[in-house]
Amino acid sequence: MAYNLLKGKRGIIFGALDENSIAWKTALSVHAEGGTFVLTNAPIALRMGQLKELGEQTGSEIIPADATSEEDLKNLVTKSMEILGGKIDFVLHSIGMSVNVRKGRSYMDENYDFTAKGWDISALSFHKVMQTLYKNDAMSEWGSIVALTYMAAQRSFPDYNDMADNKAYLESVARSFGYFFGKDKKVRVNTISQSPTATTAGQGIKGFNGFINFADQMAPLGNATAQDCADYTITLFSDLTRKVTMQNLFHDGGFSNTGVSREVMDKFE
Ligand code: NAI
Repeated sequence: MAYNLLKGKRGIIFGALDENSIAWKTALSVHAEGGTFVLTNAPIALRMGQLKELGEQTGSEIIPADATSEEDLKNLVTKSMEILGGKIDFVLHSIGMSVNVRKGRSYMDENYDFTAKGWDISALSFHKVMQTLYKNDAMSEWGSIVALTYMAAQRSFPDYNDMADNKAYLESVARSFGYFFGKDKKVRVNTISQSPTATTAGQGIKGFNGFINFADQMAPLGNATAQDCADYTITLFSDLTRKVTMQNLFHDGGFSNTGVSREVMDKFE
């Protein structure tokens, strides 16, 4: 059901690769709520992915940008304001990739060039996106910036590898930049800590099926799906959450505050 919560709002959505992507579902929901936006992804992902289809469905233009490139980001931000006809009200950073994970390197055997590249893509890019928006004075007052994260930033999950460190950095950037964006421009910055979700990035994690089923049986409400995440993100982009900022918001059906569930206990009795 749509409530027109984003009527008249303009945004940029990073990271829709295919219809499973959290950013893809979010783009469809933002569109249903009356928001307009530019879609963006890395040039390589645009060649391989299906973003054109999403652009057509939502009447959105697509601007390629490698989120690690300051030049690409400046071009993206400037062109988005031209296309959308004004400053930006909402931004979704939905980007993650570990080169160590992709190349099968364990946490105890990191290749540090891979580590640096993965950190740049998954964590520092959030700072680069916000610095570009800030310096170009591209955000409207009471605008909202959201990035997606995972609880491995707080607790150890052995197979999450160096993405755990990347997520800890990402969440810290949200707090640190959130202070300045709040003070200087009245813009809020938050991270959503999402349940394991079956997407290209999610399924890259070793033992993902066990991981997602365990979380589902632990959480009193079950895992939050990609669509649930899209719905939650809409509220953070809307005017109903204007004083929520610098937060890491768990969106996981209660998993993060559950010690153990009856279902999991039953397996050990
Ligand atoms: P996805 O694979 O659909 O999305 C990841 C996106 O990052 C892709 O669109 C990819 O092209 C983009 N990307 C990679 N390198 C890039 C670069 N250099 N510049 C710009 N974009 C680049 O997977 P998903 O799951 O939708 O991931 C979105 C976010 O959600 C990520 O931050 C991920 O860590 C986070 N997340 C995912 C969970 C899961 O279990 N799937 C759980 C918690 C958080």
